[in-house]
Amino acid sequence: MAGTLIVALDVDTRREAAALVEALDGAADFFKIGYQLFYGGDGFALGRELLAAGKRVFFDLKLLDIDNTVEKGVAAITRTGATMLTVHAYPQCMRAAVTGAAGSDLTILGVSVLTSMDDKDVAEAGFARDTAGLVALRAGQARAAGIGGLVCSPREAEIVRTIVGPDMAIVTPGIRPAGSAVGDQKRVMGPAAALDAGASHLVVGRPITAAADPAAAARAILAEMHGHAIA
Ligand code: C5P
Repeated sequence: MAGTLIVALDVDTRREAAALVEALDGAADFFKIGYQLFYGGDGFALGRELLAAGKRVFFDLKLLDIDNTVEKGVAAITRTGATMLTVHAYPQCMRAAVTGAAGSDLTILGVSVLTSMDDKDVAEAGFARDTAGLVALRAGQARAAGIGGLVCSPREAEIVRTIVGPDMAIVTPGIRPAGSAVGDQKRVMGPAAALDAGASHLVVGRPITAAADPAAAARAILAEMHGHAIA
């Protein structure tokens, strides 16, 4: 499967983000807006602008609150025409998000376990399972809740795919094309390997956004995703 490329607009300002979107015109049309741009750079307004211009937008807001608040918040996001939205993969939260998104095209993604957490962190947070056990539990709960997909490490994609079946989205960050800097990511995978492991959508930030030529970097990743040799 070729998969879908999502570019993480992890910049401080709407102006920088808009410049990246413009530089990527024709190479990428699906953008992730997370905390940094959403809260600091008027990212909600930019997201609406991109959606109005026919781009796809993934609001990575990792919602978690009481059911009523999640449901109403998600319903508000649906009115923007957004493509994807993250919530933490707690069963009640996922069910409330599904209710809030009913009748819309918004894909709700559950964040299984943050990839910054190891077994020690999960224990410290009070969970009785290890990270792998918690990811597996939440993947099953995500499927039961009827959400559209999960965000997980590419290392977890294979097991998550066996649990959720062929149709749910599996969105993986931590992607590094051949020869690029790893940065602060600890467990990375190449684009083709992540797709082979079961991912359907790859989130890529710095390998594209920090490149001298972002469009060329995006095209090289798309070529790797399609299994072609890089020129
Ligand atoms: O620059 P880089 O390719 O590492 O960016 C990856 C993006 O995916 C960032 O927006 C980061 O916040 C996000 N992400 C991640 N690991 C997760 C969840 C989200 O790297 N577990």
